[in-house]
Amino acid sequence: MRGLWLLQKDKKLDSKKLKILFVSSEVDGLVKTGGLADVAKSLPQALIEKGHDVRVVMPFYSTINNRDQAQWVKQAQLPSFSGSPVVDYQIYKTHSGVVPVYAIAKDEYYARPQIYAENNQGYSDNGARFAFLSCAALDCAKQIDFKPDIVHCNDWHAGLVPLLLKNRYWNDPFFNQAKSIITIHNAIFQGICPSDQVYLIPEIYTKYLVQIEETYGWINFLKAGAIFADMINAVSPNYANELLTPEGGCGLDPILRQRHADFAGIVNGCDYSDWNAQVDPYLPAHYNSNPKSFLSGKALCKQVLQKQLHLPKKEVPLYGMVCRLTEQKGVHLLISILDRFLLNDVHLVIEGTGDPILAQQLTTIALRHPQKMKFIDRYDNKLAHLIEAASDFFMMPSVFEPCGLNQLYSMAYGTLPIVRAVGGLQDTVVDYDWDKENATGFVFSDIDAMDFLAKLQRALILYLQDPDEFHRIQQQAMHQKFYWSDVAEKYLALYFK
Ligand code: GLC
Repeated sequence: MRGLWLLQKDKKLDSKKLKILFVSSEVDGLVKTGGLADVAKSLPQALIEKGHDVRVVMPFYSTINNRDQAQWVKQAQLPSFSGSPVVDYQIYKTHSGVVPVYAIAKDEYYARPQIYAENNQGYSDNGARFAFLSCAALDCAKQIDFKPDIVHCNDWHAGLVPLLLKNRYWNDPFFNQAKSIITIHNAIFQGICPSDQVYLIPEIYTKYLVQIEETYGWINFLKAGAIFADMINAVSPNYANELLTPEGGCGLDPILRQRHADFAGIVNGCDYSDWNAQVDPYLPAHYNSNPKSFLSGKALCKQVLQKQLHLPKKEVPLYGMVCRLTEQKGVHLLISILDRFLLNDVHLVIEGTGDPILAQQLTTIALRHPQKMKFIDRYDNKLAHLIEAASDFFMMPSVFEPCGLNQLYSMAYGTLPIVRAVGGLQDTVVDYDWDKENATGFVFSDIDAMDFLAKLQRALILYLQDPDEFHRIQQQAMHQKFYWSDVAEKYLALYFK
């Protein structure tokens, strides 16, 4: 009886339409450096489609797309709290698809050529820039009279928002029903900055310094988020487990272990309106999983890519990779085995920007193998789509990977991911040698270039020796679905909790 009552109560709760304030430093369609932007567009969109009212808040960077089309909403003023200075700012309204985005304009912080760093060097006042974002995000909610049920913070950039809700606004009727959640997309970046940069939140100096201090004189934004948010989640269950360990926790593990009951892992989704081989406007040929369409469509994509990159036109297995050039992505592992792997009759295409040393090494190796390897040292979204579709295999030898999105895109395009068993990669790809029946790609375990090489070769053998089986796995991968609508249900369950 009681159970039934509870169920009915939950049903009623679940049908409530929520007001969600979503704070992110980047949103796909407006500004993007990584997967965070994809999530900050797709998750709000999926929640809106379920009838919830979501408003995204982000900085009004000078590099934002269609900046001149953004609509000016109002001039606002961050009032003084505990002696902090009064700060003027402007609110603009724009959108990414159906998602309404409120952009906080403050030229002193956001009118810069890049959003976080120049020449691989983070801006020295990033702490001040994102402490301001945290303050302005909540103030903006008031200014636009959006009384949130949930404040969903993302990564360290919004890490001080939960602290503000618990302190500055704890008895403000405007926020009296607001609960906060922080999503950790990448715990390597924690926003560790000199404590004098959070001068807009003097409460920190008087009350919270010890708790959120990293070392003397430095505070940690993400740690603050993990301490003060009502719920915390990581972008895959496996990454959540890794974060609980000293090896994978990036120093946050003691806090996350303490908060175990409020800590979850949710795998990101794939936006199939962007990643659909049947209609993708960036592809020269469209295809579905039907064998005839699949084989001819993919073959044509491969030929066009070969032509575009001046690779010889021939039917050899193509290995693709699109990533930020960082050690996180395992680029150094690839570099150390490339010359050996390229002894095989294969093509290899890498697109990405980042660490100039890794870029230089890739350039040098590509020059040694002009008939087999191309390195594109820039981020070109159209080319990224073509590489996903044209490749037979997609490489992600990540050292760590909170979720990873490219393996989902690869599978959608019938391209088999070759990944390391880490974070979300382990949650989403089934290795051919572990489970032939359900396989969707290849998975290797250790951070070891030789293990990675062995998997690249293993994949090659399947391609050459058993084309029917290879196509079966490709189609199986293509049938995997990671719908944002399902992901949104999981977030809703957290919100209602
Ligand atoms: C970060 C992580 C990546 C994840 C993305 C979106 O970029 O490195 O693994 O997919 O955030 O959550």
